[in-house]
Amino acid sequence: MIIRPDADAAAALVARIIAKELRANPHLVLGLATGRTMESVYRLLVRMHRKEGLDFSLCRTFNLDEYVGLYPDDPHSFRHYMNEHLFRHVNVDLRNTHLPNGQAPDLDAECRSYEASIARFGGIDLQLLGIGQAGHIGFNEPLSAFRSRTRVKALAPLTLEQNAQSFGGTDRVPRRAITMGVGTILESRRCLLLASGPAKAEIIAKAVEGPITAMISATALQLHARCTVVVDEPAAQRLGASEYYRRIFATEPEWEEFRCLE
Ligand code: GLP
Repeated sequence: MIIRPDADAAAALVARIIAKELRANPHLVLGLATGRTMESVYRLLVRMHRKEGLDFSLCRTFNLDEYVGLYPDDPHSFRHYMNEHLFRHVNVDLRNTHLPNGQAPDLDAECRSYEASIARFGGIDLQLLGIGQAGHIGFNEPLSAFRSRTRVKALAPLTLEQNAQSFGGTDRVPRRAITMGVGTILESRRCLLLASGPAKAEIIAKAVEGPITAMISATALQLHARCTVVVDEPAAQRLGASEYYRRIFATEPEWEEFRCLE
């Protein structure tokens, strides 16, 4: 659990961790997430590609989720989001970028084949995660089983509300999405969750320090052997042990190289 002074510093830390993993293993299988929080992470990765030659040419990416019923070129689709925020600005081979196809005629077959592709590439090395206000990771809405795999989920009312603005009204938000399951996410070798802003403070405290419950799928990450949660000060306000987390980041050798980031 790491607390950074503001949203930019939190995103910078996450981008640096991704860059370090990618440099150590150019064939990295990278799990990606969408949402407003991730926009600054992708902006920083693009900058590192341009200025430091961060190389995406051999990496493979798998996104967490995609809306059912949207074409890939729909401006609201997560495929479009990824193209605009990351893929078209770096040297990733688009054939190596994977998102579930929300237009597949057989959605269950699509979910099975998505899981099979992840397995074919040896599993996800590093999974980037945001958190919804209801505590979901991906679109694993309340009561998602911790052993769930990639599947179609009906979106919860709070999720529809949260996404209403970008769709121009709750009625226009797709009702369903394909999402990696909680079980799929827990199998990745490392998880990296980023949250910022006061609206996430309560759910972050529940996710990190609260009891494990399928009502809040992010609590499943407490079972993950290597999960790092990065938040800014406003999102850290409800944490009970924040002084301990601050001390770990300030003193543990693992974090030394990341301390000087703005
Ligand atoms: C959507 C995505 C989640 C993401 C969440 C938070 O629901 N499916 O993966 O974490 O939004 O988005 P934001 O960063 O905009 O708060």
